[in-house]
Amino acid sequence: MPSFTVFKGTESGAPKKSTTTKPDQLTGDNVLIKVTASGLCGTDLHYKNADMVLGHEGVGVVESTGPDCKVLKKGDRVGWGYNHNTCGHCQQCLSGSDIHCPERKMYGEADLDQGSFASHAVWREAFVFKTPDELSDEDAAPLQCGGATVFSALHDFPLNPTDNVGIMGVGGLGHLAIQFAAKMGCRVTVLSGSDSKKDEAMRLGAHEFIATKGKKELKISRPLNRLLVTTSAQPNWEQIVPIMAPGSKIFPLSVAFGNFEMPYFPIVVQGLTIQGSVVASRHVHQKMLQFAALHQIKPVIQTFPMTEEGIQDAMTKLENGEVHFRAVLKAQ
Ligand SMILES: NC(=O)c1ccc[n+]([C@@H]2O[C@H](COP(=O)([O-])OP(=O)(O)OC[C@H]3O[C@@H](n4cnc5c(N)ncnc54)[C@H](OP(=O)(O)O)[C@@H]3O)[C@@H](O)[C@H]2O)c1
Ligand SMILES: [Zn+2]
Ligand SMILES: [Zn+2]
Repeated sequence: MPSFTVFKGTESGAPKKSTTTKPDQLTGDNVLIKVTASGLCGTDLHYKNADMVLGHEGVGVVESTGPDCKVLKKGDRVGWGYNHNTCGHCQQCLSGSDIHCPERKMYGEADLDQGSFASHAVWREAFVFKTPDELSDEDAAPLQCGGATVFSALHDFPLNPTDNVGIMGVGGLGHLAIQFAAKMGCRVTVLSGSDSKKDEAMRLGAHEFIATKGKKELKISRPLNRLLVTTSAQPNWEQIVPIMAPGSKIFPLSVAFGNFEMPYFPIVVQGLTIQGSVVASRHVHQKMLQFAALHQIKPVIQTFPMTEEGIQDAMTKLENGEVHFRAVLKAQ
């Protein structure tokens, strides 16, 4: 030990059980975590064909700690997300923007031998977050990426409680974004493909709901000061630009490839900002967990067993838009 079970992507896309072995003794500030639950994020679908361990919304319990650990001890409830390490001495690390560290070690690029679809994982204590008592493991899991991503887009750039915040896409990220923005005191306008998620979006804190599919022009009662785009594909930007307030900010959070094509002139004359954003720096991640615990922000989850069949089932449902609203895999 530690030798543990992991679930990897494969050429066919069917998750495959495998084993990862780490050195016998934990070194430095590494901790061995027994995974209890993991969220399934839209981004995992992009890696289902990669030869790597899947999952980056991990939650569990510390089983043992390395010699340099200072904060965590055996039995602590913890979670981790998309980023596993940074250099600690560049301008980004020093200024609290460590998610942009040029040497960051993110999911999909580094540490491919372990992830949160697993029985265990070994991570640096410095990149692991204590789970607040108010949150169950299943509720804390989707916060580690989905929650961190939308909270960061709301938190890191000045936001007024009087702002009208648009959330486009009511999925894993979107349904958390509605709750965070509402609890920050903002008016929340939800943009969703159809009317089917209206009741739930209003229950989660939305003030206005707009169905977008097939509409040439969107009717909105107040222009948006900020828009978080959390759809799984790039949206129709021509539909969106006219409903943005002058000087407002658009956060395209969707993972998509190819070029960004947008009506050009309105950006210039309306003074719009297009703001990229990726998950969250550590201090923001930590604040997000505290904010969620204080305001009882919880994901709406559907649980699946952490087995090859369970992961496959959850992934198929996510691809088909059938997950309500975040799939969580539970350790067996
Ligand atoms: N920037 C980051 O750091 C970051 C972090 C995590 C995830 N992501 C990305 O964020 C996106 C959302 O992730 P998620 O886990 O929330 O996914 P999700 O649960 O699948 O939610 C995506 C939502 O997008 C809408 N949608 C589905 N198919 C669509 C299509 N073909 N075109 C347009 N909209 C569609 C649906 O909402 P409606 O039914 O309401 O329309 C769906 O619920 C993914 O692209 C993911 O890779 C980015
Ligand atoms: Zn994610
Ligand atoms: Zn750095």
